[in-house]
Amino acid sequence: MTFLGRSVELAALILLVLFCLEKVFPKTVERMGGISGIVLRIVVLLWRLVVSCVKLLAMPFPHIFRWLRGPNTLFGAARWLKFGERRRVLSSRNKGHFIGHKLRISKQRAMTHMAIVGPTGSGKSSFAYAYNCAGLTEDTQIITDPKAELYDLTSDYLAKKHGFRVLRFNLNDPSNSDVVFNPLDYFQDYSEIRLLSKILVEATYAKSSGDQIYFNSGAEKLISILLSLVKELDEERQNLMTVVDFLDMIDTPEQESLDKLIKLHLPDRLYRAWVAYKSEGDNARKSITSSARIALDPLNDPTLQSATSGKSNLDIPSFRRTKTAFYIITSPAKPHLNFILTVLYKVLLDNLMVAPGKKDLNVFCLCDEFAQMPAVPQLDRYISYVRSFRISLCVGLQSFEQLGLLYGKEAAQVIFENIGSLLVMPGLSIDSAERISKTIGDATVSYSEAGFADKSKRDKHMQRRLFTAQEVRTMSDGEMIYLYRSLNPVKLSKVKPYFKNKRFLRTIGRR
Ligand SMILES: Nc1ncnc2c1ncn2[C@@H]1O[C@H](COP(=O)(O)OP(=O)(O)OP(=O)(O)O)[C@@H](O)[C@H]1O
Ligand SMILES: [Mg+2]
Repeated sequence: MTFLGRSVELAALILLVLFCLEKVFPKTVERMGGISGIVLRIVVLLWRLVVSCVKLLAMPFPHIFRWLRGPNTLFGAARWLKFGERRRVLSSRNKGHFIGHKLRISKQRAMTHMAIVGPTGSGKSSFAYAYNCAGLTEDTQIITDPKAELYDLTSDYLAKKHGFRVLRFNLNDPSNSDVVFNPLDYFQDYSEIRLLSKILVEATYAKSSGDQIYFNSGAEKLISILLSLVKELDEERQNLMTVVDFLDMIDTPEQESLDKLIKLHLPDRLYRAWVAYKSEGDNARKSITSSARIALDPLNDPTLQSATSGKSNLDIPSFRRTKTAFYIITSPAKPHLNFILTVLYKVLLDNLMVAPGKKDLNVFCLCDEFAQMPAVPQLDRYISYVRSFRISLCVGLQSFEQLGLLYGKEAAQVIFENIGSLLVMPGLSIDSAERISKTIGDATVSYSEAGFADKSKRDKHMQRRLFTAQEVRTMSDGEMIYLYRSLNPVKLSKVKPYFKNKRFLRTIGRR
């Protein structure tokens, strides 16, 4: 009622003003079509104003409806993890692996293993391993450290600030090694010795076909017999080098004394295997012997000899009781010696797979350059249950194909299925980038098309990879993608490498 009254009052006022205007400026009013013309113009103006206001008020409604209806998932529902959801997964208060320079996943999630994938120079060491090595301060760490960079960066900090026992197995410079690792101390019965000789042979003959498969199998058997014999000798002769000495006796006048030793020390079963080897055809026997000699050739390396001769002093069970940072430093110039890492990891995992007590420490294995060491036997079977022994693997790979080449397609697939966390660095190969893009999945995107054909101006929908292979490949420095099992992906940006992170450098006492 008030509104109507006010409107009538306003109309009367306007008419009065117009009437006065006509009296004062009669010519101007006449030019505008008289009082009725001006009234008409005012009405049109007011009408336009009302229509504009209504349009303005109605504008948010389609968005509100869309919001109420939820996102369109007709062609795919892939999306990034939302900020609130993200805080539940990644937080600086967590104690598991670092994802970027601040955020971490929970320890529980860290136990489901992790892979860091990125080509050389993409930042696996400086954006991920450095932070993890310095940050996992509550548990034992086993760290593959190809260039000793993590040792130089973190060992003092871990020892002095967090009370770690620091151990080094240094294949690059055995005189600076705290650990002697003689594999013969750990491989006891024949089936274990057979496995050791398999690692030795496969490190050289990773891919074999045709007759070579037969010769490799013969070489494995021959090395197993000789290793079994070495284990029966005095302590000072119990090292891998003695096997090479025995091999060198074959087809020489000294073979007779080797014959006698085998007959004297080994069980009948192994002696018969030795006789079977000797009675092979001349060519086959020679091929088996030379395959064994080629496989054992790296053992002639003096650095390997000094790192693996003598009594082992690695007390693996103590890793569960004493916080230990065990650095395994390899020699980048001698990649053919990396088979000893495979043997070492096999021994470490075997000896740590004992049900841990409540107070026992977890073991984090930070395996940078994982594909640089020959395949760990049966890792595809191991990996699913090492988790239950509270051992977490964090493997660094240059691409997915690298693991497939090393372990075979099926085994590599099983290994990946058992990896919960995946951190993707920029610059991946096209195949690996495509795999990530596919894993992230398809999203439904909307676009509005207005033109001659479509006057309705309604939104159209189409399918698009949420992050295409090209986008994965061309991420810039400091950007990375984190994937965890069924969670939506997280894209991180502005991650700092450790050498640009002043706060981190100050914390570890490098500044
Ligand atoms: N201390 C440093 N100071 C300055 N730049 C560095 C330092 N360490 C590494 N970089 C640079 O940072 C980038 C990432 O190096 P990083 O060693 O982390 O890569 P990566 O993925 O571990 O490579 P690789 O597989 O060869 O070990 C490279 O361009 C490297 O040259
Ligand atoms: Mg590196």
